[in-house]
Amino acid sequence: MQTLSVELGDRSYPIHIGAGLLDRADLMLPHLAQKRVAVVTNTTVAPLYLQRLTQTLTAAGVAVHPIVLPDGEACKNWETLNLIFDALLTWRAERKTTLIALGGGVIGDMTGFAAACYQRGVPFIQIPTTLLSQVDSSVGGKTGINHPLGKNMIGAFYQPKAVLADTDTLKTLPPRELSAGLAEVIKYGLIRDADFLAWLEANMDRLRSLDALAIAHAIYRSCEIKAQVVGEDEREGGIRAILNLGHTFGHAIETGMGYGTWLHGEAVGAGMALAAETSRRLGWLSAGDVARARALIRAAGLPDAAPELGLETWLDYMGHDKKVESGKLRFVLLKRLGEAVITGEVPRDVLAGVLAAPR
Ligand code: NAD
Ligand code: GLY
Repeated sequence: MQTLSVELGDRSYPIHIGAGLLDRADLMLPHLAQKRVAVVTNTTVAPLYLQRLTQTLTAAGVAVHPIVLPDGEACKNWETLNLIFDALLTWRAERKTTLIALGGGVIGDMTGFAAACYQRGVPFIQIPTTLLSQVDSSVGGKTGINHPLGKNMIGAFYQPKAVLADTDTLKTLPPRELSAGLAEVIKYGLIRDADFLAWLEANMDRLRSLDALAIAHAIYRSCEIKAQVVGEDEREGGIRAILNLGHTFGHAIETGMGYGTWLHGEAVGAGMALAAETSRRLGWLSAGDVARARALIRAAGLPDAAPELGLETWLDYMGHDKKVESGKLRFVLLKRLGEAVITGEVPRDVLAGVLAAPR
């Protein structure tokens, strides 16, 4: 097992990465204020891992209340969130009761938001079970739900007490979901680490076949970069926005196509290709750089081209981005491979050219 830390003063917390962590009550007990937890999961993950986690906790004397939600990005909404509150109130969960998120990013984001709101804030632990959630969504404290008009528009910054990424859980993940997680892994190379990017180019086959050493390295390096950025700028006053490379385009794809049609990671993959092309048109990347980025996105099993939405629809959905300031769109682009830049200066004709380019 490897452990690193998100440094946020008295709200700092560990990220544990390794095989078999669902059996490790010793990693959870120090973070429980009370020997009572509600495990929030969904109908897909519950049959796979709920019993094992419940056994681990009950053997350590912890009372476990399972909350099993419907699965899917389309369920990341008020109605499903309310099911968590209904269950917590019915079970008489208290302020010291810990919520445990067992699942992918949808479960993690909703459970974190529920934890932020229930009785004005209860502790929570992330046990991410998708690659995407292990490298990204479980770390950094962004929690929330979607609105029909915009992705992740309702939420809170609320940090977990600990993150346990059990790499064994990836063995049951469908290949399409593994690829979606690789999008965020590639993102870290593109925004902050050209050496890691080169390593990903050389090791993509190992990652896609779940080679244990390669997967552990990719998760560790991704979490390390994310933890650094979050430690520098927890509430996204500035630099944290670089973690959104490809997301302005990607969120527009997700909202425009209907939540769940494109996976979040697929939309981010295509979005990163559009961000690279925009960076080329602004004179920062070469055609060779863009080809390299697109080849890596494709090698991960992701789309490197976006669907046709129409310029006005693109602009409308991108206009709901959380990076918009005074009504002006801001983009995360690349100065070079391995270095991101945040800019509001993308001329409309450049954007129109990128969005209209042949796919
Ligand atoms: P997801 O949570 O929908 O999980 C993908 C699918 O895999 C689901 O059907 C899920 O039930 C299933 N699943 C989960 N673990 C499994 C396992 N071990 N074996 C088999 N199936 C399993 O999607 P995701 O890609 O994990 O997360 C995407 C969500 O994360 C989006 O809503 C996105 O907005 C959010 N996100 C949040 C942040 C953040 O910082 N909070 C960052 C990135 C993405
Ligand atoms: N996924 C973007 C962030 O956590 O800031």
